[in-house]
Amino acid sequence: MSGIEINSVLIENRLFKPSAEFTARARIKPDDLAALHKRAEEDYEGFWADLARELIDWQKPFTQTLDESNAPHFKWFSDGEMNVSYNCIDRHLAKHADKTAIIFEGEGGDVRKLTYQQLHDEVCEFANALKAHGIREGDRVVIYMPMVPEAVIAMQACARIGAVQSVVFGGFSAESLRDRIEDAQAVMLITADGGTRGGKIVPLKEAADKALSSGCDCIKNVIVLKRTGHDIAMQEGRDIWWSDAIAGQSNECEPVWVNAEHPLFLLYTSGSTGKPKGIQHASAGYLLNAITTNLWVFDLRDEDIFWCTADVGWITGHTYVAYGPLAAASTIVMYEGAPVIPDGGRFWKMVEEHKVTIFYTAPTAIRALMRLGDDFPNSYDLSSLRLLGTVGEPINPEAWMWYHTVIGKENCPIVDTWWQTETGAHVISPVPGVTATKPGSCTLPLPGMMADVVNEEGESITEANTGGYLVIKKPWPSMLRTVWGDDQRYADTYYPKFGGKYYLAGDSARRDENGYFWIMGRIDDVLNVSGHRLGTMEVESALVAHDAVVEAAVVGRPHEVKGEAIVAFVICKGERPTGEAAEKMAKELRDWVGEQIGPIAKPDDIRFAEGLPKTRSGKIMRRLLRTIAAGEEITSDTSTLENEAVIAQLQGKA
Ligand code: WTA
Repeated sequence: MSGIEINSVLIENRLFKPSAEFTARARIKPDDLAALHKRAEEDYEGFWADLARELIDWQKPFTQTLDESNAPHFKWFSDGEMNVSYNCIDRHLAKHADKTAIIFEGEGGDVRKLTYQQLHDEVCEFANALKAHGIREGDRVVIYMPMVPEAVIAMQACARIGAVQSVVFGGFSAESLRDRIEDAQAVMLITADGGTRGGKIVPLKEAADKALSSGCDCIKNVIVLKRTGHDIAMQEGRDIWWSDAIAGQSNECEPVWVNAEHPLFLLYTSGSTGKPKGIQHASAGYLLNAITTNLWVFDLRDEDIFWCTADVGWITGHTYVAYGPLAAASTIVMYEGAPVIPDGGRFWKMVEEHKVTIFYTAPTAIRALMRLGDDFPNSYDLSSLRLLGTVGEPINPEAWMWYHTVIGKENCPIVDTWWQTETGAHVISPVPGVTATKPGSCTLPLPGMMADVVNEEGESITEANTGGYLVIKKPWPSMLRTVWGDDQRYADTYYPKFGGKYYLAGDSARRDENGYFWIMGRIDDVLNVSGHRLGTMEVESALVAHDAVVEAAVVGRPHEVKGEAIVAFVICKGERPTGEAAEKMAKELRDWVGEQIGPIAKPDDIRFAEGLPKTRSGKIMRRLLRTIAAGEEITSDTSTLENEAVIAQLQGKA
């Protein structure tokens, strides 16, 4: 076996069809979906042009749909003019001024609701405040905020005046903040005194001060929201309280009509090497797919209450909190705090209280809440829910089934949405009234998203269950436009193969006999054991299928004879096994994986810990685990880790 092809060993055959009742009420029914696919196949540009005209309000209509003259830097609708904030707010006011746009709940239980009119007024006041401090079209503004409505207000205010925002997740350290500010050459920082998480204050302003004292000469002003009320330092001439900045500002602010290709935001994401990449998105194309996917995948309707639990510091919190649902005139829920405060029932209590109808979260959260038992969800009324979603990593079938039965009461379709910061919006996902789902599969590409699995030569792999590179064969409206300030890195990262024809996602995937996509991991998460290629995720799924296991991460370690040996880091239910108990459990798990997949997949080394090293967005830090597995010294920055203490356990030192 050569190249990227991967042996697939986990075959999941359960099929869950949407109920007739769901389908009858869904926006997209089987015939609609077929028609959308057909149109996209037959007239790709016409397909997107029609949607862009229908779903976006243009100040100046576009005449050119896709411009490929400077490939791989593609442009969409590039002679049109529009404004994202106008499309998210103003155009709804005639009909929906009094409709709730945002339901916010703080960790302490404080609830605040904003109607579309109130959101409009606050966005305008803040946009005027930004202008008063010299912010103009094209200026970069970094937002380092807790998960409060003002974060969305700041994002929308930037869009309103054509400023380019870059949200830095509040869990990032001062160093990370400084690097991003400097890379973006931002002139303004918007932050808060602090946020609240897990009953503790997250000292945002303190971190901001530290970042600014070690560089960031580009920053002229810092606007500070009072949220926690604890003591902070304010630097005269530089720092302004949010309330002072908006004092006396008008609640009307004419949107700046920008070109469709005007940068809307930068979002920094880690690459396989070196410094974070500023993923740059454009205005109209991004907004278009934010809207289409909210309508097609979340089936958003007027009466829905949509809760996407992602922080605005991640792409999910952009497309499915701050922009997309608002552009579709929906009602969103925002929560500032940890899911287990005061206990593991917090999410379910909020679902009951706010009558959430659509709930979207990450597999890591589902597994964590599943671990706390069924009593929490069972003590709340979850009957308002009609649709569930997941994003961020492959969901193992056990967690999927728990989500389906205990949360969805077997009554809610689950949309497992595959996409990336770079794609801007969902690419592969079930359409809930149509697609029969299989636990663990993100199913099929959405209309107009030409995703495929190809071999080393760029040819479609037609054989079922043979893995390859996940690619997207045509540019799409919400794709990234470049890596900020580094066009070459953009081309090298995303168009390095196949003659520059296809977007390379960096994931490996397979398609099953129904054409369903199964994500097998990142390309560098592929193990090669004695010439057999195995997706790390498949070994992980086998491990978590064992009764005693809650979570597992598997990486390769160089091995003289086999190429790679398999190292598994395992979290067990209850107490972490040590000593003899650990040895016994390790043997049991090795045999178990041998049974589930085959002897080739038996982990050579199993280590038990209380947690896995994860980024604040919940992604397992695989590169760090590979370093640990190889017994090498850790040189990477571990400051963004949720729990630094587990490192010693994983190294076998504790
Ligand atoms: C992974 C998050 C399996 C994948 C929106 C991708 C997934 C990376 C899924 C992007 C899914 C995301 N099933 N894997 N449904 N969704 N991924 O940029 O490896 O934070 O390349 O965007 O997450 O992560 P990012």
